[in-house]
Amino acid sequence: MPHLLSARDDAFPALILRAEHVHHALQNHTFASSPVFAGKTIALLFYEPSTRTRVAFESAAHHLGLHPITINAQSSSIVKGESIRDTVQTLCSEGMDALVIRHPREGASEVAAHYASVPVLNAGDGSHEHPTQALTDRLTLQLAWGDLKGRKIAIVGDVAHSRVARSNVWSLTQAGMEVWLCAPPTLLPPSFAGVKTTSCLSEALEGADAVMTLRMQNERMEGGLLPGLGAYVRDYQINASNLRYANPDCLILHPGPINRGVEIDDETANSAQSLILKQVQHGLAARITALEFALNGV
Ligand code: NCD
Repeated sequence: MPHLLSARDDAFPALILRAEHVHHALQNHTFASSPVFAGKTIALLFYEPSTRTRVAFESAAHHLGLHPITINAQSSSIVKGESIRDTVQTLCSEGMDALVIRHPREGASEVAAHYASVPVLNAGDGSHEHPTQALTDRLTLQLAWGDLKGRKIAIVGDVAHSRVARSNVWSLTQAGMEVWLCAPPTLLPPSFAGVKTTSCLSEALEGADAVMTLRMQNERMEGGLLPGLGAYVRDYQINASNLRYANPDCLILHPGPINRGVEIDDETANSAQSLILKQVQHGLAARITALEFALNGV
């Protein structure tokens, strides 16, 4: 079954190639969906809030001729205590052809895939993985640079709770990038093979070709991990003053949602080097590619 649960999936490199092709077809208004998708129905099962990911999956479904049904946990039988297993089996019995799931707990998409009789796509599971965001970000960097090999990226912020960081580590190291993770010591993950970690922002940004900043994911954080937001802003905010350590044409990424004035200042978020809205735009090609893969193989 072609589930997409992780950026480590064997299919990931092929998905990147396909996403680039889909992106250009969308740009040229030549994207044509295969008739195999027409009339199929997919469920978007969201146990957590979402704007970008949900809209991109819904829009991708429409581009493919699929019917998306979005289920918000707050307005479903989940609030009556239904388990993931029963919700997934119910949706499969209702004739869904694929399930997209976002859940606050790590491993939830694997549980869903275990019980589902149709492909499952992970739209973010706790602090674990977010493969379609990694697809979006890799596509964004490839469109900017072509080859990523040897380029340095610093991923800065609440790395410990970030599924985006985790999936990007797999994807960007696989592409040959030099990946640095930078956060206060309490927000750095224990260790990551092939990745450099530091709590010193100037070290992480030194010669960086790109920086990806992350939100404080308070919903996944135990209290007391930071002495105060003021100190965090002083030491880790991405702004013109800190960017002097990076390459002059350093690209700025953020998976959203942004907290302006915290992890990034307004000027940097709006700058010509910022690819933040490009990431959002490229999210559509990434989700079209992911749904094509799940429903039809690459
Ligand atoms: C992120 C997420 O939900 O994982 N956003 C996204 O999907 N683009 C990042 C976050 O919540 O901070």
